[in-house]
Amino acid sequence: MKIGTPKEIFAGEARVAMTPASAKELQKLGHECMIEAGAGVLAGFADADYAAAGVEVVKTAAALWKGADVVAKVRAPDAGEMKKLRAEQTLISFFSPVADEANMQAAAKKGATVVAMEMIPRISRAQKMDALSSMANIAGYRAVIEAGNNFGRFFTGQITAAGKVPPAKVLIVGAGVAGLAAIGTSTSLGAITYAFDVRPEVAEQVESMGAEFVYLDFEEEQQDGAATGGYASVSSPEFREAQLAKFREMAPEVDIVITTALIPNREAPEIWTADMVAAMKPGSVIIDLAAEKGGNCKQTVMDEKIVTENGVTIIGYTDFPSRMATQASTLYATNIRHLLTDLTPDKDGVINHNMEDDVIRGATIAHGKEVTFPPPPPKVAAIAAQKKKPAPKELTREEKAAAEVAAFKQQTKNQVTLLAVGGALLLAVGLVAPASFMQHFIVFVLAVFVGFQVIWGVAHSLHTPLMAVTNAISSIIILGALMQIGSGSFLVILLAALSVFMCGINIFGGFLVTRRMLAMFQKS
Ligand code: NAI
Repeated sequence: MKIGTPKEIFAGEARVAMTPASAKELQKLGHECMIEAGAGVLAGFADADYAAAGVEVVKTAAALWKGADVVAKVRAPDAGEMKKLRAEQTLISFFSPVADEANMQAAAKKGATVVAMEMIPRISRAQKMDALSSMANIAGYRAVIEAGNNFGRFFTGQITAAGKVPPAKVLIVGAGVAGLAAIGTSTSLGAITYAFDVRPEVAEQVESMGAEFVYLDFEEEQQDGAATGGYASVSSPEFREAQLAKFREMAPEVDIVITTALIPNREAPEIWTADMVAAMKPGSVIIDLAAEKGGNCKQTVMDEKIVTENGVTIIGYTDFPSRMATQASTLYATNIRHLLTDLTPDKDGVINHNMEDDVIRGATIAHGKEVTFPPPPPKVAAIAAQKKKPAPKELTREEKAAAEVAAFKQQTKNQVTLLAVGGALLLAVGLVAPASFMQHFIVFVLAVFVGFQVIWGVAHSLHTPLMAVTNAISSIIILGALMQIGSGSFLVILLAALSVFMCGINIFGGFLVTRRMLAMFQKS
């Protein structure tokens, strides 16, 4: 089939839905690729790069829409593009079924198929196609860079001959995909980073990234995002008051505030109020990533940068991914490529629009002359929707002690039984097996026992480094190969040399992997 990407016509949009690299991968699926001339220029991809990747470069948008069986683009189609969409054609793009309802109806009526990138279900299998996440990641990163650009000081603290510079204090509100990307960028630039979210389950992630989670002094438990597929819902008025009180306390202290708080299908909650803006120091910066949905700060002007009377810069840009068009296009084109991989299961260049597939069904909003939105709930729950285990019941001291004694008794009983059974089995084997076998067998059994006891006590997260290091150590068999390498027989030398080579890979590879894995647990 022919997969085509037109030039984006939305003013200021620099992204493109196909890159030379993604086109090469699409061709491996048996598809042919087309692109409108100049479509990738703003993202840094020249027509010649596409041509070199085997993509047909067509002069006009009309020719592209006419020739392509599948049109992949970034922004939802405008009226002109809707006219070009034809029956039996598949359109893959961002396409809000609520905001663009009329277009969705029109596409269905025409008999076209529309796959909306926003609608990719948030299940683990679909993460590689999740364009909302890949764009939010870029927005979070870019928000910090934009803040730095408008902030007159360093992020990191410094002691120089010219004086001491305190580190910047950054508060990130909303620790979803964009928030976490912002936290990662802010901490790596050396700022003291605070983060808050109504979903308490993200506190651990926030802290693991080197930021401080802002806890509220509030009795009612923070929201259980697990109940809503990882998304937040509206907070109670009391909770909101506690949240605002905490922010009011922090406002004079923080230099940069990045707000990312969103609630699906609602206007963004107001979390940074006018009095907080007024309390901030001159030169402070607010980046409101919720600007498109009304803003988390009501002073935000969508798509603009303003400076308040007290010298606080408020940025309400909504095109952060487009401002990093090369990166955004690369990730978006990869999302599209993964989606097309699922749509081409036999890699034969034939699209199989399998409406039984959770991901394809979830994202398809028009198919077979019908509107197929809203989709049924996916059969697999979202990752974030896994329920937390209920908290264990609080025990009194006596109950705790009694439980510990009972557990110890049970453990001892199990161990004694295991030893008795093992001993009896060994004796039984010893009755029939030769003495030389028994010597090796006992060493083997003991090795299994010791190995088991050692590994059992290791935390799960450390199993991979443990395996890597044991892999390296087990390559002690290299000694045997080294002893044989001086042999007179050519065959033995060859085999010994091969063994040394392979054991070498195991040893060095094992230690390298261990080093890398352990580095992940070390705080820089
Ligand atoms: P989002 O853009 O809808 O919201 C951003 C954040 O704002 C959320 O973390 C939300 O809890 C928070 N928020 C809402 N109201 C708030 C308030 N009043 N104060 C402070 N924070 C507030 O969410 P996003 O980033 O699209 O994803 C949210 C979650 O979805 C992720 O953290 C993750 O758990 C889940 N997810 C799952 C994926 C998958 O399974 N494939 C992919 C991406 C996200």
